[in-house]
Amino acid sequence: MKLNRGRMLSSMPGPSVIPDRVLGAMHVSMPNIYKGALLETSMSILDELPSIVRTNGRVFMAISNGHGVWEMSLTNTLCRGDNVLVLESGRFAVGWGEQAKMLGAQIEVLNAPERGPIDPDAVEARLRADKDHTIKAVLAVQIDTATGVWNDIAAISRAIKAAGHPALFMADCIASVGCVEYLMDEWGVDVTIGASQKGLMVPPGLGIVWANERAMAAHEKADMRTPYWDWSARMSEDAHYKRYCGTAPVQHIYAMRAALDMIAEEGLEAIWQRHEIFADAVRAAIEAWSAPGGLEFYIKDQAHRSNSTTTILSGSVDAVRLCELCEQGAGLTIGVGLGDLADSSFRIGHMGHLNPPMLLGTLSTIEAALQAMGAPLGASGAAAATAVIADAMKN
Ligand SMILES: Cc1ncc(COP(=O)(O)O)c(C=O)c1O
Repeated sequence: MKLNRGRMLSSMPGPSVIPDRVLGAMHVSMPNIYKGALLETSMSILDELPSIVRTNGRVFMAISNGHGVWEMSLTNTLCRGDNVLVLESGRFAVGWGEQAKMLGAQIEVLNAPERGPIDPDAVEARLRADKDHTIKAVLAVQIDTATGVWNDIAAISRAIKAAGHPALFMADCIASVGCVEYLMDEWGVDVTIGASQKGLMVPPGLGIVWANERAMAAHEKADMRTPYWDWSARMSEDAHYKRYCGTAPVQHIYAMRAALDMIAEEGLEAIWQRHEIFADAVRAAIEAWSAPGGLEFYIKDQAHRSNSTTTILSGSVDAVRLCELCEQGAGLTIGVGLGDLADSSFRIGHMGHLNPPMLLGTLSTIEAALQAMGAPLGASGAAAATAVIADAMKN
């Protein structure tokens, strides 16, 4: 029986739920795009975005999704023929690397151990072996949305420095910015990539790149530069129009303003903590559900299971059917498996504008669907998650 009336809920690992306040902020009739309130709002965002990743570097915001700003980061810092080391830990660094290859770079992929995070020691060993420093950039993802792995970006950065290697370190934080701790300058990351549609709670359509001085120096020599993405063109101080390489994304700018206000009101540290509690609740649910032949975590090392999204191997349970039943039977959208994990896993996003009714509703609904399918279940995941939330509510 279909029980899917009421408000649909998406617990996919992005695009995440957009707060009503952010949606409401987009309801503006078209302002003057050359002067006045829109410019002030846009400039206030560009002033504040560096603090979100804790950098004093520059920020560039483009009308783009994540793929677009991958391209922005590469074309602005690399030359054709450069060697790029791609630290694979799922799907997304590989996709970024494939773009680099198409743009004319030489790619080498260093694989993480199966079902695990990037190994900083392996990164250090590979870079030490590159005695002539032919590798110009190292690409990694903080949280891979396919596997749900959390990579220790600070440790990888330390490994690069320990090898005495000058390669630029670029981190994709699309699934982690505004969800988990990230200290770009302190950790020594040169380029950071973000997008509007996950922890930042803004509809898909804004891509963000943060760049430090080393990245800006590489930009001076980069020969992959193209007109739309070019940082130099976007840095022009006189014309605001050029910052977006054309017409500004008016409604998205107002949306981002509202989202940054919400982030400032809650505080980044509190947001990171809230994400940790919700992730603990999801992990408690999966732990409880796990059963021989049934569900299990994809990432084996619990210290590397991310706080924004979780990938669950479905064992004998038909993952595609589970997602369909949640959506069509109950109005809950969860993430299907990606790539090699397409038929054997499902994903729960726990990022952004989220509270216990949304999270516990998600977990209880998945549990109901699992029960309806006759899945082998160890114990009640909903009860286990409730206990985690109850514990957090005491303080
Ligand atoms: C970690 C990560 N990087 C990159 C992307 C690509 O972003 P987009 O789909 O907006 O192009 C995604 C999308 O889910 C992602 O999760």
